[in-house]
Amino acid sequence: MSEVKQTAHINPTGEIAETVLLPGDPLRAKFIAETFLEDVVQFNSVRNMLGFTGTYKGKKISVMGTGMGMPSMGIYSWELIHIYGVKNLIRIGSCGALQDNLDLYDIIIGMGASSNSSYVSQYHIPGHYAPVASYSLLEKAKHIADEKGYPVHVGNILSSDTFYSADKEANDKWRKMGILGIEMEAAALYMNAAEAGVNALCILTVSDHIYKQEETTAEERQTSFTKMMEIALELGE
Ligand code: ADE
Repeated sequence: MSEVKQTAHINPTGEIAETVLLPGDPLRAKFIAETFLEDVVQFNSVRNMLGFTGTYKGKKISVMGTGMGMPSMGIYSWELIHIYGVKNLIRIGSCGALQDNLDLYDIIIGMGASSNSSYVSQYHIPGHYAPVASYSLLEKAKHIADEKGYPVHVGNILSSDTFYSADKEANDKWRKMGILGIEMEAAALYMNAAEAGVNALCILTVSDHIYKQEETTAEERQTSFTKMMEIALELGE
């Protein structure tokens, strides 16, 4: 690299691709790099937020952890976009399902990301902003999933500030509005991308069902979401 720009959270010791996959868990980033990528170089280890660049089917792609929650996603996605020139940011994560037609391991693409977070307030929008996915990435991801024969649900998700909520009725209200599942990062990613004019998408695998009271183990979550990973990897430019 000709000029290496260091930020408070990323100290790149290698190239960062224009397309970056963003799992919450840095160990999932490592798993993806080791399992799917060739010619892998680790580019970040600050705070153990591991980032890797390699090639997938000949196309350069990076994968980096974001941590949990919108402040953490906000930091990493902002730096990737504004300091490192990333153009396509694809969150891959897990979610808790809210609808009866969803089961463990189902794949959801977040067309929109509703939220209970105050992240949006920084933009001083004179109304209610609706964070949405990049349509071009969404369309491509749906097409890839169809070609692979992987069923996906496309719709509105909830990016929540709380995993353990004191408000026991909240889930019922989001469920009634058709929200497919709850996660904790997509809305911040969609807003950072929208403000910067770049592309973002969130693909999720159901790790727990809030109404059926079913859940996967942490180990399964780290390694078994490969269909979602394959869809995201194909989105490299
Ligand atoms: N991620 C996975 N499951 C979740 C849940 N139930 N709530 C919020 N985020 C999640």
